[in-house]
Amino acid sequence: MSLATEIRTPLAVLGADVQVPLASGEKVGYAALDYAASSPALQRVWDDVAAYAPYYGSVHRGAGYLSQLSTDLFEQSRRTVGEFLDLREGDQVVFTRATTDSLNLLASAVPAGTRVFAFETEHHASLLPWAHAGLDVTYLRAPRSRAEAVAALDAALAEAPEGPKLLCVTGASNVTGELWPVAELTATAHRHGARVVLDAAQLAPHHRVSVRELDVDWIAFSGHKIYAPFGAGVLAGRADWLDAAEPYLAGGGATRTVAREADGSVAVQWHTGPARHEAGSPNVIGAYAIASACRALTEAGFDGLEAREQQLIARLTAGLAEIPQVKVLNLFGEGSARVGVLSFVVRDWNSSHFSAALSAEYGIGVRDGLFCAHPLVRTLLGDEDEAPSECGAPEPSLPGERSLNAIRVSFGAGTPDEHVDRFLTAVRELVTEGAAWNYRNEGGRCVATVQVERGRRAEG
Ligand SMILES: Cc1ncc(COP(=O)(O)O)c(C=O)c1O
Repeated sequence: MSLATEIRTPLAVLGADVQVPLASGEKVGYAALDYAASSPALQRVWDDVAAYAPYYGSVHRGAGYLSQLSTDLFEQSRRTVGEFLDLREGDQVVFTRATTDSLNLLASAVPAGTRVFAFETEHHASLLPWAHAGLDVTYLRAPRSRAEAVAALDAALAEAPEGPKLLCVTGASNVTGELWPVAELTATAHRHGARVVLDAAQLAPHHRVSVRELDVDWIAFSGHKIYAPFGAGVLAGRADWLDAAEPYLAGGGATRTVAREADGSVAVQWHTGPARHEAGSPNVIGAYAIASACRALTEAGFDGLEAREQQLIARLTAGLAEIPQVKVLNLFGEGSARVGVLSFVVRDWNSSHFSAALSAEYGIGVRDGLFCAHPLVRTLLGDEDEAPSECGAPEPSLPGERSLNAIRVSFGAGTPDEHVDRFLTAVRELVTEGAAWNYRNEGGRCVATVQVERGRRAEG
């Protein structure tokens, strides 16, 4: 197949026609370049949810027709997600609220005494639940290459005491977009008897993911990052630890029987299987929306989607490389394989100010900050000496601590070429001519105040 036939037009997403006001009062089409935070809903997902909505009913708790239908739809959604992830026989799909919830659920379920290994470069959702659940955690230093990551894990596991072990690793960084060597890390972990949970929050929206091929033990991802923003997420994988654990939440749906004992206490028999950790009325629309997104992405074909995204990445990185004031942040070196997520800093610009100007003057939505991965961003910015603070920092800083943050641009299956082109034009203009408006910090938000003559940098 030639490249030309592989590359498709963007998938239809909601919001593609939304107009937003600029500081000037003019309106422009919104360029959503913050997919890594939350991606827009696929039109297909929205249509599926709208078609189901009149038939909405309770799940696992109703004799009526719509309850039965909704229960079937919920269970079918579980099977669709399992197929999308290419799960093994016996693996479970548990519906959660999002990746953070999935990883906290797993942290609550691992056997007592489990030692967890995580690189300090993880998103807080995959860095923090383990110690929070009272587990011993070994934090591995930020590796500067994929090979170094594998070697560091190998060395750490070789020294680890006997007992259950778990590696938590991200598939694609939410800061740099770089791909982690998941299969190699998993092989290393398994060689040392450790299990692996893959944080696929940034991977699943961009890549085909096969749990069977990667051989990870669990995988977690979020609906709202995979074009299905209806409040659900997924934890999928091996049943044994999940079935042996105390239920994540206590309540209806997780129980097989509840009986009053003669001494006045209550004896509970909990379900095994996904229901054990899904107490309460499940989010059927959220689960169905995720299944719809899984179907839509599979039918569109990851080969074509990835080829198109890689073309946008190449266009973006080539464009930024021509602007010497821009420094792209990479952990594994320039040109390392990534999904459509990229963070950068601009010399002599505070990132909040720069991002505010992209929004107020060009209608472009990006994110600035430390992206819930503070140790990683601080490592990446460690040797930066430019951090003027025209607009203050969105993250609270200690007295005397410099404000250091970055700008992140991210995109995916619904992104038209024009958004990337407009972004590059905007970065070039802001860097060479300065902002066209003055900005002021209003309650932590950078707000345009008065228009200034272009060609001189606006003052705070
Ligand atoms: C790599 C990664 N893991 C976990 C999360 C947490 O996802 P959620 O906020 O949907 O729970 C995010 C969110 O940005 C992420 O990027």
